[in-house]
Amino acid sequence: MKIRVAIDGPGGAGKSTMAKALSRACGLHYVDTGAIYRTVGLAALRAGLEPSDGEGVPALLGKLDVQVQYEGEEQHMLLNGEDVTGMIRTPEISAAASAVSALPEVRAFLLQTQRDLAAKGGVVMDGRDIGTVVLPEAELKVFLTASPEERARRRFLELREKGIDQPYEEVLREMNERDRRDSTRAVAPLRPAENAVLLDSSELTPEQVLERLVSLVREKSEGRPEPCA
Ligand code: DC
Repeated sequence: MKIRVAIDGPGGAGKSTMAKALSRACGLHYVDTGAIYRTVGLAALRAGLEPSDGEGVPALLGKLDVQVQYEGEEQHMLLNGEDVTGMIRTPEISAAASAVSALPEVRAFLLQTQRDLAAKGGVVMDGRDIGTVVLPEAELKVFLTASPEERARRRFLELREKGIDQPYEEVLREMNERDRRDSTRAVAPLRPAENAVLLDSSELTPEQVLERLVSLVREKSEGRPEPCA
């Protein structure tokens, strides 16, 4: 089995940026699991449901076909055959994804999809419960975090780059709210796996975080042919 890397942590910690960079450096396949929850969040909103609706959303799941496809290394999300990749990065969908992800039925519905994507190994998967629930056998588990202010600052800049001008204070408030919901939900709350390596990126450059991740992959793949550049 080729290495499986689980990267969990709160929003804005740099998980997807670092997971993508690591996948390129070590020839691994990158899987963004947040995009899968975002797609269900979008489906709930489109159906006119409150994303936290514990009856309506589970009833909707049977009508949903959520597929993950790759064009080269780029992950695309298909919702009932429609490519919705470009529609799931708004603050509204972030909040909806966090709300639907607290429903146990939603988590159960998406579990196998995520495990299937890692079945062959050679993956780096990012999310909230990858090391604790989805891939408890992952060879390397990292819990990547940063202070709330630093994460909000990064998210603020990222949104602005996309032309979304949301005030910093509001980004920080929504981020704290999402953190609270993701870590206090009853099912698969956000928390580091017991054997996860804790990595705080508040004071580190992306290059330093990548360096640390690459050396962890090398360490964990001793005896295995991992092609980290
Ligand atoms: O990583 P992200 O911001 O794209 O994730 C969106 C939401 O999806 C996040 O607030 C919580 C949920 N999520 C989850 O519960 N479990 C995962 N493995 C990934 C995301």
